[in-house]
Amino acid sequence: MRALVLIVFFAQLLKPTCQQIPRQCANSEALASRQCCPVWSGDGSACGARSGRGICQDVAVSDQPDGPQYPFNGVDDRERWPLTFFNRTCRCLRNFMGFDCSECAFGYFGPVCTERRETVRRNIFQLSKAERQKFISYLNLAKNTISPNYVIITGIYNQMSNSSAAMFKDVSIYDLFVWMHYYVSGRSAWRGEYVWMQVDFGHWAPAFLPWHRVFLLRWEHEIRKVTGDSDFAIPYWDWRDAQECEVCTDELMGGQSPLTPNLISPSSVFSSWKVICSREPEYSMRGILCDGTEEGPLLRNPGNHDRNLADGLPTSSEVDFTLSLSQYDTGSMDRMANMSFRNTLEGFGNPVTGIGNSSKLGMHAAIHVFMNGTMSSVQGSANDPVFLLHHAFIDSIYEQWLRRHQPEKSHYPTANAPIGHNSEYYMAPFMPLYQNGDYFISSKEIGYEYSYLQDPGQRFVDGIVSYLEEARGLWSWLLGAAVLGAVCCALLAVALAKLRRLLSRRGNRSPEKQPLISSSEGSTDSYQAMIP
Ligand SMILES: *[C@@H]1O[C@H](CO)[C@@H](O)[C@H](O)[C@H]1NC(C)=O
Ligand SMILES: *[C@@H]1O[C@H](CO)[C@@H](O)[C@H](O)[C@H]1NC(C)=O
Ligand SMILES: *[C@@H]1O[C@H](CO)[C@@H](O)[C@H](O)[C@H]1NC(C)=O
Ligand SMILES: *[C@@H]1O[C@H](CO)[C@@H](O)[C@H](O)[C@H]1NC(C)=O
Ligand SMILES: *[C@@H]1O[C@H](CO)[C@@H](O)[C@H](O)[C@H]1NC(C)=O
Repeated sequence: MRALVLIVFFAQLLKPTCQQIPRQCANSEALASRQCCPVWSGDGSACGARSGRGICQDVAVSDQPDGPQYPFNGVDDRERWPLTFFNRTCRCLRNFMGFDCSECAFGYFGPVCTERRETVRRNIFQLSKAERQKFISYLNLAKNTISPNYVIITGIYNQMSNSSAAMFKDVSIYDLFVWMHYYVSGRSAWRGEYVWMQVDFGHWAPAFLPWHRVFLLRWEHEIRKVTGDSDFAIPYWDWRDAQECEVCTDELMGGQSPLTPNLISPSSVFSSWKVICSREPEYSMRGILCDGTEEGPLLRNPGNHDRNLADGLPTSSEVDFTLSLSQYDTGSMDRMANMSFRNTLEGFGNPVTGIGNSSKLGMHAAIHVFMNGTMSSVQGSANDPVFLLHHAFIDSIYEQWLRRHQPEKSHYPTANAPIGHNSEYYMAPFMPLYQNGDYFISSKEIGYEYSYLQDPGQRFVDGIVSYLEEARGLWSWLLGAAVLGAVCCALLAVALAKLRRLLSRRGNRSPEKQPLISSSEGSTDSYQAMIP
């Protein structure tokens, strides 16, 4: 099984596509020219232009004014993303997407991206045992596979453009996303002169929901590519009214270590995961960027949080109240915003009154605090895979709000939001480029759905399909087990016969002890066992 993982791993490395900065643009020449229009390997032209997939174009960034929270200009590499790095990129046409237009837009599939298909994100507790194992093995594969397409940048632009040794580094597919979440939320210290705490390009303001929506979509996309499982969808954890971290079991995201309560149980694969980018105050103070170096194990101690910061997990009535707020964002559109759906869902508005600058954190933020560990710092939180289950559920609440209130696109703020959050701002640090306002639409338009939001008829049909698929999956699994069993039996029989001969020759004790039986167990509970 290890060998299989290695094969997948090397196959990825050998792929001709080089690609959070696409590999082809991760060099001094590309930086100097400020152009990132990689050649699509399908036709040898930049952006697949010859096949009509896209064109290499100047990037036009919006000149709408930002809010007053960030009184600087030209000191942070994320300002007017992506202009610090690139001013020409691929603009993909039709249903194509990607930095080189080699991929299909969210919700589209097939060789020319014309098949429209909806995937369903399901409650993690509704997944079969095999599906749960598959999910864990996908996570682990992503954690252990170098990203074939992207590298991270490990320096601020000034440092990078000065040295011919441009500062790029390989990371795993999983850690690429950890790094992106760190990068969008890191404090402003990029020019080494300022540490400005009041800035975050993906939190504390309107883009919080669209940004995390794109983050999860891209994550799904990368998992589909590395596993070849094009139907993969992130499951969610519905934490309403929960009293404890229900997903913190060895079967799912890892139980608690019996010896050290803030570590993951050694029976979970996540106990071996190492975190990156978990030391934000330190990077800012030193004027450096997180460079993806491992910084120790995942920490988590659910429920042992500081009660002054948050009470516990959110309740159904808090979710209902939040959904009843009809304004997406209000006033200063930051953590002070009153009666703002976004601010209340994010956790800075009181989930009973809707008043901003709440003394305790609620909703989304309360779960982060509750986990009391890696999840509790904004910049490091994506290291913990609970992040994905949590944000999938947050996104489903956003989706419910969009369906209930049916806002016009213009309801999303076009100007004066905190920097990075206006409708037309490009989300840092994504390449290809995505605009906040484009993700203020129903998930159905971008190809996915949540099982608990489906209408009952659809839920029934999907239920049958997934039952059949599970039965089919189970069948091949049983068949595999039977073959394995037969092989083991045969080996055992041979071994026993040998042993008996040996023993009878020696005239020794009974052949009771035979260690072979445990070897079949060893192969079935391996986490890599489910990778296709
Ligand atoms: C893009 O950047 C290059 C290199 O700095 C510069 O020469 C060019 O004028 C820029 N293009 C635009 C449209 O700003
Ligand atoms: C980059 O080069 C400029 C002058 O070319 C210099 O003033 C600056 O200190 C250098 N920055 C770094 C981080 O080396
Ligand atoms: C929010 O509401 C509180 C309580 O009514 C009020 O004191 C505060 O000024 C309001 N903030 C804004 C930004 O309107
Ligand atoms: C925000 O809340 C804190 C206490 O939680 C208070 O000290 C501060 O004055 C509030 N800020 C505003 C602008 O209301
Ligand atoms: C965990 O909770 C304790 C209080 O119960 C608090 O002192 C500590 O800072 C928390 N740690 C994290 C990482 O949230």
